[in-house]
This record gives sequence, structure tokens and C-alpha cells, in this order.
Amino acid sequence: MNVLVIGNGGREHAVIAALKKSPKVDKIYAMKGNAGIAKMAELVNVDYCDVKAVGDWVDQKGDIDFTVVTPDDPLALGLVDELQSRGHRAFGPNKNAAIIEASKAFSKDLMKKYNIPTAQYETFSDYESAKKYLETCAIPVVLKADGLALGKGVLICMTREEAQDGLKEMMLDQKFGSAGNKVVVEEFLVGPEVSALAFTDGKTIKPMITSCDHKRALDNDEGLNTGGMGTFSPAPFYGEKTAQEVMEKIMRPTIDAMNAEGRTFKGVLYFGLMKTKDGMKVIEYNARFGDPETQVILPMLKTDLMEIFEAIVDERLDEVDIEWEDGACVCLVLASGGYPEKYEKGKEITFGDLDKDVTVYHAGTAEKDGKVVTSGGRVLGVVAKGADIEAARRKVYANAEKIHFDGMYYRKDIGIKYRDIAKE
Ligand code: AMP
Ligand code: GLY
Repeated sequence: MNVLVIGNGGREHAVIAALKKSPKVDKIYAMKGNAGIAKMAELVNVDYCDVKAVGDWVDQKGDIDFTVVTPDDPLALGLVDELQSRGHRAFGPNKNAAIIEASKAFSKDLMKKYNIPTAQYETFSDYESAKKYLETCAIPVVLKADGLALGKGVLICMTREEAQDGLKEMMLDQKFGSAGNKVVVEEFLVGPEVSALAFTDGKTIKPMITSCDHKRALDNDEGLNTGGMGTFSPAPFYGEKTAQEVMEKIMRPTIDAMNAEGRTFKGVLYFGLMKTKDGMKVIEYNARFGDPETQVILPMLKTDLMEIFEAIVDERLDEVDIEWEDGACVCLVLASGGYPEKYEKGKEITFGDLDKDVTVYHAGTAEKDGKVVTSGGRVLGVVAKGADIEAARRKVYANAEKIHFDGMYYRKDIGIKYRDIAKE
């Protein structure tokens, strides 16, 4: 089979590395890819948010058997629908299901209607009403821009003043663009967070191994929110008991709710969860693989990923046994100095002599004059497996030191979080 993978980050590099191992896959194309992906796939320079242009390219190419859509924007824009309407096979939720990520107001209303545990909330489209509500609500409070905002549309406000300023930025100053026309004001929850991803064909749900992201830019979870500075797998506090609670109270009800709404979800559903004193609660849904969660999940997958993708599209996921390796996996993101705010691009990257069992997934890289250079905020993900998280993190850090580019920055504490919480 010839497979087209949409996207250009570390997540897509990990997806392509997994597909490369499949005997079913002949050739991989990546739209648009990066310098690391270029070693495994042929790059295609088409804007993947232009769904019609992607459809035209696939039509003209003529020999693409399957397309995998992983980023949030093309899913929300209906790329899977566009390809299907032209008779092509594509993996990922349809536009009417991808809304579970694309609109926070939609996902909150869905959870309320179907009794899926989440933070209490109110939704506002009118600034004055929201302002009034903030005068009396409990503090801390969380403000969320309704639409997609590259993971940056969430403000955790520790004081009432901060909340009022944040609301003004979102609704009046349009800091997150039109994503802030509608705002969800949410109860602040406390507890460890976990990314619980699942494969689903709309009927069967097969959870993946769990992972934990580190969203803040600086050590000790300080600094600005980012797309994710590192991950580890599995979450130590998420054992059989929690997995069962999540399946019964969150995963199954969500898939059933989407079916009941006429929005059957097929693809990867990402449950961002918090373990609160009142049980597991949903913080957010994503309609896709996480980044950098995928970089620690897929290296542990023993089953053929292409087989899973096909089974989902054909609605026969119940026939596939999905197996995972034991042990742990850690991903450390090497970022450009200044990320997630202003940073420079075009810095040459040198990799040194890395251990053979360490993988480097490329995110923001490009090739220039035969050299690999930086081209984004999150540049590389250094990934290692180990018997436990500590062993994997030691290997990751020992190898990260060998990599260099001007301004390179990484957190020193990936994999430490939650190790004092009781293991389940
Ligand atoms: P999101 O973009 O929805 O994943 O939110 C980004 C981060 O904000 C989450 O990973 C949480 O750490 C935090 N967050 C979001 N909602 C809440 C909430 N209701 N209570 C506490 N923290 C939250
Ligand atoms: N790592 C968080 C996300 O993919 O949204």
C-alpha cells in the first residue's frame, strides 16, 4: 500500500516510523513532513489545511491507497470527509465528530447531557454577562477560548483580577482570534493529569498505554503553556482499577454519546483526564494522537499500526488484538530558546554519537544546503525505553547532552512528576 501521512511534527515522525515497520506498507508520502521524516518518506509540499488542494493532489497522484490525518486543524476542516467524498480511504474522525476537540462548548455540553464527569462550567458569548459571572464565582477559575488555539487558549486564573483581565483579552482584544468569541468559564480542579488515548471505530474501544505530558515551558511546571515539553509512559497512578472506572464512566459513555448525537467517532480519541478526589474527570478531548504523547506510545506498540488503522476504517477493530511492550518510555523535547514566544529559526543541528537504542523524532526541522536546521519551536524529541521511567529518563538525558543547536533549551525534570504518588 502507498500511504499519505498528513502533518509535520514529532507525532507524525513517530506515526511514520511505526507504519514503516508494517509489511503492508510499500511507500509513504508525508505532507509536509520535516528533515527527519524525509529519511523515511517522500515529502509533499501542499498546504494540508487547504482540504480541496489535498483532495486534488491525492486524485492526481492516483496511487495513494490510504491517508492518515493526525493534526487537529485539517480534521476540524473536514479533510477526512473531503477525501472520502472523492472515494479515498482516510483515517481520522469526520468533521462532525472532530468538533469534540474543535469546540470546547460542544464538548462541555456533551458531557453535561450524558453525565460524563468533568469540571462545572458556564458558557458565554456575551462579554458583560461573563464579566458579571466572574465577580462572584469561586477562585481559582479557568477560562477557555471555545475554538482551536494551538493549546494556548486556556487561562488558569489564581485571582479575580487575573480572571477579569484574561476575559477581556479573550473576548474584547481577541488574543486568540475568533476562538475567543465564545468562552467557557470552568471550575478549577486539582489532581494528577494523564493522557488516556484510545483507538475506536465507533463501536469497539481499545485504550492505548497511558502517558503524562508536561505542558509548561519551565521546570516545576512553571512558565507558559506550550504544546508539550516532554512525556513519559505509563502514568504510575493509573492501574487496572482506574482504567476500569475510565472505561465505564468516561470512554464508553463518550463513544455512545457521539453515536447518539449522529456524530460517530472513528479514529484516535484522546481523553485528557485528571484524578481528582471525586474520581476521574475529563479536562479535555482531542480528536487525534497527542504530541508528544505519541512519541512515547507508539514505540511501545507491538501490533502493526497499519492493521489497526485499516480495522478502524473498516469498523472491525474488535478483530484486532493490540499488544504493548512492558516497561516505560520517556520523550524529552528539545526546543528553540524563547519558545513558546519569540524564537529564532535556521540554526544548524548536530547530533553527536547517540546510543543505538535512542530514537530522535524530528518536529521543527528542515534541510538546508545538506544540513539539518531548526524550523520551529519544538525541534526534536529524544526518546528512550527502559525497565522503568527512571531508567528511560537517564538514557534520554545522557543522549540529549550530545545534541546541539544554538539556543537549545529543554526541561530538566521530565519524568520526575508524580513519582511520589502511590502506584496503582
Ligand atoms: P487544555 O488545553 O484544555 O488541555 O488545558 C491546558 C491545561 O490547563 C491542562 O492540561 C490542565 O493542566 C489545565 N486545566 C485545564 N482545565 C482545568 C481545570 N478545570 N482545572 C485545573 N486545571 C485545568
Ligand atoms: N500534548 C497535548 C496535545 O497533543 O494536545
